This record gives sequence, C-alpha cells and structure tokens, in this order.
Amino acid sequence: MTKPYVGAIDQGTTGTRFMLFDRGGHVIANAYEQHEQIYPEPGWVEHDPVEIWRNAKAVVSRGLSVAGLDAEQLAALGITNQRETTVVWDKKSGKPVYNALVWQDRRTVDRVEELDAETVAAIRKKTGLQPDAYFSASKVEWILDNADPIKLRRTRPEDVRTRAESGELLFGTIDSWLIYNLTGNHVTDVSNASRTMLYNIHDLAWDETLLVEFDVPEAMLPEVRPSSDEDLYGHTDPDGFLNAEVPVAGALGDQQAALFGQTCFDAGDAKNTYGTGSFYLMNTGKEAVSSDNGLLTTIGFQRSGEPVQYALEGSVFVTGAAIEWLEDVGLVGDPLETATLARSVDSTEGVYVVPAFTGLGAPRWDARARGAIVGVTQSTKKEHVVRATLESIAYQTRDIAEAMEADSGVETTSLRVDGGAVKNNFLCQLQADIIQTEIVRPEVDETTALGSAYAAGLAVGYWDDIEELRSNWQVDREFDPEMDADDADRMYDRWDDAVERSLDWDR
Ligand code: G3P
Repeated sequence: MTKPYVGAIDQGTTGTRFMLFDRGGHVIANAYEQHEQIYPEPGWVEHDPVEIWRNAKAVVSRGLSVAGLDAEQLAALGITNQRETTVVWDKKSGKPVYNALVWQDRRTVDRVEELDAETVAAIRKKTGLQPDAYFSASKVEWILDNADPIKLRRTRPEDVRTRAESGELLFGTIDSWLIYNLTGNHVTDVSNASRTMLYNIHDLAWDETLLVEFDVPEAMLPEVRPSSDEDLYGHTDPDGFLNAEVPVAGALGDQQAALFGQTCFDAGDAKNTYGTGSFYLMNTGKEAVSSDNGLLTTIGFQRSGEPVQYALEGSVFVTGAAIEWLEDVGLVGDPLETATLARSVDSTEGVYVVPAFTGLGAPRWDARARGAIVGVTQSTKKEHVVRATLESIAYQTRDIAEAMEADSGVETTSLRVDGGAVKNNFLCQLQADIIQTEIVRPEVDETTALGSAYAAGLAVGYWDDIEELRSNWQVDREFDPEMDADDADRMYDRWDDAVERSLDWDR
C-alpha cells in the first residue's frame, strides 16, 4: 500500500510544530509546543537543544495520535528550522556541550566588527552574506572558546576545542541536530549550510580560509546534501520513539522552505514570511545575484541531481516579535487586538515605531541600532503606538521590496505572503497599501512546514514533480492597494527619518 502522508517538523525560534500533509497539500494533523527562551545577559539568546529534541518527539507523537495515525503511514519526513542557530554536541553521547546560540544572539558583535576589510570582502564574495553576528561562524567560535568548563566537568575550556579538532564534537544548525537525533547521521542541506558564513555558495564547499578565520575545525562539520535528497539523510530508528523506519529525505532552512512551499520555483518568484522577523526571498534561478542594496545572496534550494537555485534575501529581524512586545509591555492583551486598536484611529498622527530591538538587518545592517518611538505628542494614545508598530512591519517590507527591485531589475507586481501574522487582514491590507503591490495569501499559510514536506515527498517519489506541487497551491485571498500612491510615499519617506534616529544607538 502506498503510504498516504508526508510529515514535517518545523523547528522555529519560539516553538516546534509537526504537520502532516496529504498529496493535495492539505493539512491532516498539526501539533505545536513552545520552548524556553533563555536570556543569560542582555542581547544573549539561547535555547536548550535537548528541550528542542524532546519537544520535536512530543509534537510528532501527539500530532499522529490526535489524527489517529501511526508512523507507518508516513512516506517520508521533512525538516525545516530556524536558521543559523548553532549547536555543538558530543558525537558519542549526543549531549550538547553548551546551549544553542540563537540567530538573534548578539554576543559576538564585537568579534565580527574586528574583521578586516579584506575578510569582509571575502565573506561577501564567497558566502553571499553581509558579515554579522547573526550567522553561525562567530557563534561556533564562541562556544569552542567559552563552553562552561564546570558544567562540562572539565578543567579548561581549551578541552572543548581540542575535542572538536579530534572529531569528538560535532557542529550543526538545528536541522543537523534533529536529523542526527532522528537518524544518527551528521548532515545538513545546502540552504542551511549557506547561512553559516563558512560555506562557499559558488563552489558548494566549506571554505578553508573562513574555517581558519573563525577557528572552526573541519572535523566537526556536517556533510552538505541537497535539500530534497533521493539518497535520503537516513531513516528513523525503528526501535526509537516512532517505532518505524521513516525516510528522512528533505531539509531546508525555514525561509527557504517557505519559498519552496509557496512554489516559488522560477527565477523572479518571491515570498515574504512574517514570523519573529520577516524574511523576503526572491528566487534568482541558477544565478547567484549579488546585492548592491543590502540584501543577502543565499542558496534557495537544491533537488537531487539538479543545480542549486539561488535567492536574494531581505532579512528583517523584528516584525512579529514587535507585536509580541506590544503584549509584553501591556499595550495589548492579545496579538489579535492589534488590528482592532489600529483600525480605531485614522492614522498614527505622526508616530513611528522602529522595532530595532536586536539591531537592524537588511538593508541597513546596523548591529548597534536599537528600538525607537518618535513623533510622540501629548495626544498620542496607545492606539497610535499599536498602529505605528503594524506600520513598521509594512515599511520594513517596503525597504526590502525596493532593494529587491534595484538588485534584480524585476518589478514587484505581486507578493506571496505567509506566516502567523498574515491571518491579520488589517496587516495584509496595510502591506498592499504601503508597497503599492498586490498581496496574495495562500490557503495553507504554514508554507514553511509544507515546503519541507514537499522536499521530502519529492525525494521519495510521493509527489511526481513540481508541476503537481504548483497545482496544489491555492489562493485564499488577494489584497489590492487601496491607498493613494502619493499618500503611501509620503508616509514611507518619514519612516526613513525615524530609522535614522535608531542607528548606532548602542555604542
Ligand atoms: O534566520 C532566522 C529565521 O530562520 C528565523 O525564522 O520563523 O523561526 O522566526 P523564525
């Protein structure tokens, strides 16, 4: 009997989701679990990799049991993950030597600022990335230099480095960590490798010079494989938690998975995902387009036996997290209230919120920028601040859309959106107004999980080809610009002024 479903583990910044899809791309099961955010010092963000693995097992088991299914019915399993987040673990015991350093972690900002101009240029050229503490390279280096010797019952932190050099310790982003635990194999996919700042995206190989620069021993690196891999990354352990041998055959960083799930298979296809941050990716096909406007050149995906497809990416660090912040500071009781509050006023009355909480990513790349609220007067009400926070999401997306057009020469006429925040119709309409472009929301907004399921399912022949995936994609709703273009331009012009005030604040 053909196995009826494909599963996906979506390991994100705030939690882990398991989803099950049928051949039509419909959601059959969905289970989610949050994990702890650990902030040992301001600007430091860690996750416990053991908790993440425990939650991954829990959501898979729960998702299957709620749907009344068992793992024998899975044709394949795909993995998608928060990117850049760095784990180092012991090959034999499987135990991490330190918490995972999360992509948002800023502890290595000084280290990255020390890079000389020649190295900065080499990083841009080889990895397509803008040197930043966001990526994994300086995080692995930090762990090898600082993993707590007491916690490890060891005498000197150098031991960690020595063990890494002898191949006793392994490095991986979260995809590798999960695949290792699921199958026992130490691999990653090209899209995740392209976010480490150690991988040459043109040669498709770990870069020796960058490994030396960041003092990362080659022995600890995972093997890099296609994102949809007919050779399979491995099988789940039949004596493990699933009691079944399920092929693990697809992996993609979450933003690239959303690109795949939105069926952006051709050059010029673009999507924007609204999660903790927003990540706007445009497929550029076989050409790695370099950016003159603050975007990243990155690997989109690769299917077995096919060339790598590249993408241009605008990484905005804080969008959905700004809505959470409104909740944290008590301005809203629930994220859903934001739309009602924002609608209750006609405008922000000149208030701008710049949510540069962890510095600014694309297009400005200022690790020392910090959040700002400007234009406040005696008559400013919380409704104005809430509306300004939603507008900041739309403005940051326009920053990227403009950079994308300038770099690619492709005019944005329609943008596919996904992620938690797109359930908010007010935000989608605002987005269409501010960028003066049609916004298209698909029926399945969890396109991240769907993308990794597609990658895994294609690898094992569950889906015949990408044409079948294209025919699964359905529009839920389109939002056309309603605002006058001049009004949108006028509002956007002042956004730039507001951002200027947040730059280089944490000097
Ligand atoms: O690059 C970071 C990104 O992959 C995080 O995505 O959805 O977990 O916020 P998300």
